[in-house]
Amino acid sequence: MPGVTDRVVIVTGAGGGLGREYALLLAREGALVVVNDLGGARDGSGSGHNMADAVVEEIRAAGGTAVANYDSVATTEGAQALVQTALDSFGAVHGVVNNAGILRDMSFVKMTPEAFEAVQRVHLFGAFNVTHAAWPHFREQGFGRVVMATSTSGLYGNFGQANYGAAKLGMVGMMNTLAIEGRKYDIKINAVAPMAATRMTADIASAEMLEKLPPAQVAPIVGYLVSEENTDSGMVLVVGGGAVQRVQLFANKAVLFSEVPTLDQVRENWSRITDMSDAQPGVNPAG
Ligand code: NAI
Repeated sequence: MPGVTDRVVIVTGAGGGLGREYALLLAREGALVVVNDLGGARDGSGSGHNMADAVVEEIRAAGGTAVANYDSVATTEGAQALVQTALDSFGAVHGVVNNAGILRDMSFVKMTPEAFEAVQRVHLFGAFNVTHAAWPHFREQGFGRVVMATSTSGLYGNFGQANYGAAKLGMVGMMNTLAIEGRKYDIKINAVAPMAATRMTADIASAEMLEKLPPAQVAPIVGYLVSEENTDSGMVLVVGGGAVQRVQLFANKAVLFSEVPTLDQVRENWSRITDMSDAQPGVNPAG
């Protein structure tokens, strides 16, 4: 039963919340886990070793194998050092779970460039930095599994999260291309939009709702996606509270104009242009 046994998997932001659950499950299933966490606050301020160390101790106490790493995924140097930790400790890297994240919520009118950039740096650049550092190793060994932590805030929007939503859907955009580029090397990339009670959601949803969303419920889906058995790539799954739901872009049949339409013709056809009743899964017309 190959699964994730002896696979070296990096989980970023694994010092708490969802990442901790991913790391615990992967280690239970026999993976060799690199537990990365900067150890800062929810908004990304501060740093420390405690969070990653505590999860590594927990894994080792349960008989699993793990090593800690405290680098920030937000820099290329940090991501290189993180992948190097996997290589130095276990001699390979087979999987990356891009889970590290911060929040800087504010309505768009109050959104500062700093708050916008800080969130891109951790989520979008973080996913790029770590995946990019692991990619040559994936190609060389003809195997790689990547999970992007996306969010319904990116897929559908959420008040006060223009920065976060942009980063999270950016990760899906990156995934779409990596799924194509990784095809011939058995590199599979998928995205999970979790819904779970963590410090990130502690003051966002009601206590009653959070009670139904233990983060452990998301972990088996992530575990499957990094396993050898998973042959799917480019999927988006919303996971939480016992539900697992695939989300996909659909496109309608298109309205064709034989000549450049006038504004009146656009107006007249608007209900047909926006009608999704005949929609099918979207495909790239250029590819
Ligand atoms: P969390 O705040 O418990 O976990 C995020 C972890 O990332 C923290 O332990 C933090 O120290 C670490 N981190 C932050 N910046 C880092 C950096 N630069 N380098 C390395 N580590 C860093 O929150 P949670 O809920 O567990 O979130 C995990 C992921 O799931 C995030 O990407 C989040 O955006 C995403 N997500 C969570 C949802 C939920 O319902 N909890 C909903 C949608 C997405």
